Amino acid sequence: MANGYTRCPFTYGLFLGTTALFLYLGRRQKTKKTDLPTCDVVFVLGGPGAGKGTQCQLVQERLDGWVHLSAGDLLRAERNYGGKLCDLINSKIAAGELVPSEITCKCLENGMARAFEQSGVTKFLVDGFPRSHGNMTAWAGTLAKHNIKFVLSFDCPESVLEGRLLERGKSSGRSDDNIDTIRKRFQTHKAESLPIIQYFENNGTTVHTIESDKGVEQVYEKVVALF
Ligand code: C5P
Ligand code: MG
Repeated sequence: MANGYTRCPFTYGLFLGTTALFLYLGRRQKTKKTDLPTCDVVFVLGGPGAGKGTQCQLVQERLDGWVHLSAGDLLRAERNYGGKLCDLINSKIAAGELVPSEITCKCLENGMARAFEQSGVTKFLVDGFPRSHGNMTAWAGTLAKHNIKFVLSFDCPESVLEGRLLERGKSSGRSDDNIDTIRKRFQTHKAESLPIIQYFENNGTTVHTIESDKGVEQVYEKVVALF
C-alpha cells in the first residue's frame, strides 16, 4: 500500500470476532429479559415490622418453587452497589419515604429475571410492593403480564410494630430503624400504602388479611393454608 500500512488478516479476524461476541452478549441479555415467562406473583403487604420478610422466608424455605423477593432488600442492594442511584435511594430510605416507582420496578424485574435465569423459578412472593399508586402504575407499565394470584396483607397494631422495629434496630444496622424514621414510615404506610389494599379489594383481586401480632409459627399456619 502507498502509505506503507499492511493489513494483517489476524488483526481483522480478532476485530470481527470481538465485535461478534459483544453483539451476541448484548442480544443474549435482551433475549433473556424478554424470555421471562408469565410468572405467578403474590404481593405481600403490611406495615413496617409486620413480619412480611419473616413469613416470606418461611414460605420460600418450606414450600416448593416459591422465591422471596423483597422490594426493600433489592433497593438496599442497589444502593450498596453504589451506582448513580445510590444517593437518591439512600436519602429516601433514611427519610422513610418511597423511592421513585420506576427504580423499584426495575429492581424487581431484574430480581425476577435473575432468579429465573439461575433456577427456572416462576413463582414469586413480592414483599413490600406495591406500596403506592405510583408503584401500581409502574408495575402495569412493564410487568403487567404476570399473574397476581392474591394479595397477602399482614395487620398488626402500631404499638407492636414500633416495639419490633426498635428491637430490630439494635442489631439491624438499618438507617431507618430509629424512632423518628419509624414514625415517618408509619405515616407513609397510612397515606400511600393502605389505600392500595382498598384498591385491590374494590377491583376484584383477592386480599387475604392475617393478624400478625402473634408468634411466627402461629402466623405461618395461617399463611401456609393459602398456598
Ligand atoms: O419493606 P422495607 O421495610 O424493607 O422497606 C424499606 C424502605 O424501602 C421503605 O421505607 C422505602 O423507603 C423503600 N421502599 C420503597 N418502595 C417499596 C418498598 C420499599 O420505596 N415498594
Ligand atoms: Mg422486610
